[in-house]
Amino acid sequence: MNTLSKAYEVGTTFSHNIIPLDFESIDGVPESHLWSQSDESHQKIQTNNPRDSLIPVIDLSDPCAIDLIGQACKTWGMFQVINHGVPLELVKKVEFEARRLFSLTTHEKRKVLRSPTGATGYGLPRISPFFAKCMWHEGFTIMGSCVDDAKVLWPHDYQRFCDTMDDYQNQMKLLAHKLLLLSLQTLDVTQEEINWATSTHGSNGALQLNSYPSCPNPSRTLGLAPHTDSLLLTILNQYGITGLEIFVEGLGWSPVCPIEGAFVVNVGDLLHIFSNAKFPVVYHRAVVNQSKHRISVAYFYGPPIESTLAPLSNYQDPCFRSLLVKEYIRLKATHNDKALSLIRI
Ligand code: OGA
Ligand code: NI
Repeated sequence: MNTLSKAYEVGTTFSHNIIPLDFESIDGVPESHLWSQSDESHQKIQTNNPRDSLIPVIDLSDPCAIDLIGQACKTWGMFQVINHGVPLELVKKVEFEARRLFSLTTHEKRKVLRSPTGATGYGLPRISPFFAKCMWHEGFTIMGSCVDDAKVLWPHDYQRFCDTMDDYQNQMKLLAHKLLLLSLQTLDVTQEEINWATSTHGSNGALQLNSYPSCPNPSRTLGLAPHTDSLLLTILNQYGITGLEIFVEGLGWSPVCPIEGAFVVNVGDLLHIFSNAKFPVVYHRAVVNQSKHRISVAYFYGPPIESTLAPLSNYQDPCFRSLLVKEYIRLKATHNDKALSLIRI
């Protein structure tokens, strides 16, 4: 557990079913998971180029990487990154361990069910209470050490899972710092502000293992409903299976095609606020697949929760009022996508 989990533990006041479906035991999409096509949040607008990702792919070893990252953050709030230095072997081990976890029986997985007000463990997405329908999804959230849950799942063999997730969280934190530093250097930012965003002291990360079992009727349901990520930066691995889509004004839902060895990086609400809206925050969702069981792993990086978040001081006319990081997390937990507009000036 880390301090971020405390901020999340306040939870929402909704009572809502957070238990994922027993996917093994069903052969159709139940009413609870049927998203109507006319539902605004499930609208699929035709794209001209559904196969091509619009999002730039940036080679971190390119001398121009800083400009490319700045440009991508300002235009899209998202990019893919290659040559990022995270060992491929570790990335593969994480997928292996995630698949090992989700292939446990429903009975086993429910032993580590996230409590209704809890932050970590097995369960449906945190945004579930904001939607009338359930998502075709099961997830496992880790904040800091996952040893307590892992011991329940594998009493005699939990160390491998924990070591892998610890190593990965450390690597993700390093990469998040690197990417934040590069992106912020393209804005008018003070050294103090850079220190806040990349502080190793009290900073927070969360690891979200997502599982989208194959679905008999993928067009009738959703893996993850449209949302923005709350913290500063998200680093996602799609593990080679398409599913992530972004909403592009005038174009609709557009896929972000997985690229071997690449991570998808996106701006979260806190970086949108911090950049004084110079970096847009990208609406995204995940769709599911008829034949493949898709796994994705997201790392969310955030600043200390007791610190104050304010738009960069060098910009006149701040777009948002300042507030504590934990206050924003709470606002998001209770108002979801209305949270940003509640603090807009
Ligand atoms: C997330 C997310 C997308 C995916 O975990 O916040 O947006 O492709 N995941 O699983
Ligand atoms: Ni997301």
